[in-house]
Amino acid sequence: MGISFEILQKDIAARNGRLKVGDKTIRTPALLPVVNPHLPLVTPREMQEMGVEAIITNAYIFSKSSEYRDRALAEGLHKVLDFDGVIMTDSGSFQLMVYGEVEITNTETITFQQEIGSDIIVPLDIPTTPDNPREQVEEELEVTLDRIKEAREFLGPDAPLAGPVQGATFPDLREYAARRVQEIGFDFCPVGAVVPLMENYRYKDLVDVVLAAKRGLSPSTCVHLFGAGHPSMLALGAAMGCDIFDSAAYALFAKDGRYLTTYGSLKIDELSELACPCAVCRNHTAEELKKSPERERLLALHNLYVTLAEIARIRQAITDGTLWELLDIRCRSHPRLLEGYREFLRHAEELERQDRVSKRRFFYQGTESCRRTEVIRYHEMIERFTVGEKVLVSMTGDKMEEYDDVLSFKPPFGPFPTGLAETFPIGQSEVPAWDEAMMEAGCRGIARLAETHPESTVTVLAPADWAAFVRQALPGVEVLE
Ligand code: GUN
Ligand code: ZN
Repeated sequence: MGISFEILQKDIAARNGRLKVGDKTIRTPALLPVVNPHLPLVTPREMQEMGVEAIITNAYIFSKSSEYRDRALAEGLHKVLDFDGVIMTDSGSFQLMVYGEVEITNTETITFQQEIGSDIIVPLDIPTTPDNPREQVEEELEVTLDRIKEAREFLGPDAPLAGPVQGATFPDLREYAARRVQEIGFDFCPVGAVVPLMENYRYKDLVDVVLAAKRGLSPSTCVHLFGAGHPSMLALGAAMGCDIFDSAAYALFAKDGRYLTTYGSLKIDELSELACPCAVCRNHTAEELKKSPERERLLALHNLYVTLAEIARIRQAITDGTLWELLDIRCRSHPRLLEGYREFLRHAEELERQDRVSKRRFFYQGTESCRRTEVIRYHEMIERFTVGEKVLVSMTGDKMEEYDDVLSFKPPFGPFPTGLAETFPIGQSEVPAWDEAMMEAGCRGIARLAETHPESTVTVLAPADWAAFVRQALPGVEVLE
């Protein structure tokens, strides 16, 4: 019983995995649609038919509803919602974040969640919103940690309990919180209070906060990004090592007349075409959808289809080792997302340690590709090359007799011995006509060769149109043309 997590495949820090909750298993990354029992635009049963394996609902709403409370206690949550997959329940902390207070205690909510048969129980954490003074964040974090500990002791070591990581926008507090939660004993940890960051497009802060939390958690812990479900940011969330997403976005945006896509949200009233392969969009014209009495529900269905399809795409990308390329596309859909992506790339050294060794391919997509984990790993490997005293890095492919070793060159990686020509990443990389960003990275590879082989003299043979650039990038290295 309890919760366990198994990682099957990895790409960057993302994982394809299996989350076991009691006797149920779901595949991750997973999207848990938020179900509001009062106004289900899409029913949990329909969701199950769409391939949804787990949902999340708010226990606080159940506990405060005269209509649902007694039924949930008598029949159980699965019967009331008509869903036999995994049901995670939230504690009321979201209401705490939005309204500032709730009328329930920690032990009351966890007892109630257990009594209604929740598969994953969440204690009453305090989601401290961004930009609060450090003192307040620390204080609320200690309360949260006490409640997490109280919940663990109250329900026992094997109870299916989530351990939320708070700490607002202080990365060191996030890392500390994660370590403390991990010590108390959790296999499932949500990163909390990130909704305000996402609502305000603060993806750079999101990256700093999530990567800090990840540093404090064990790599084998299943990580839930609380309240994240917009299809444009799921690839980034997964790449950071988040396994579970939950979203009310599909329904909230539908109520607001918004049509989700992987590159942003569109106003349905401004659309003349429905460029989407889902059942809703193929069975309606834009005009029909706008005027339909079922407009909200149809929009919610479309929004959910799009989000679930993106999850499938991410899982496939992890299997194929092509998640960097999906990120390259997704993170260009909004400048603030690109800002988040660049922040993510600033952490590439730490990501490199988690990334897998070999992939299907490396497609160069511009400047950002030069910071990919594969480039960093390659540069670290250069240290281990065995070369003679006189080494030539031939960018032109020409060989010269007087050198002990002649290495070839491929940007953004750098020098490579013939023996590596067919292996990853050299052999599986597709690079367009050289540009300055990739040449700069390639020259860093040459600099690394020179630095780590002080007993060798490195000379570069550059094509005429790149010689000046290479000389500038490699001061102190002889460059022939
Ligand atoms: N839903 C969105 N964010 C949070 C959070 O930080 N904690 C809980 N419990 N639920 C949330
Ligand atoms: Zn559609």
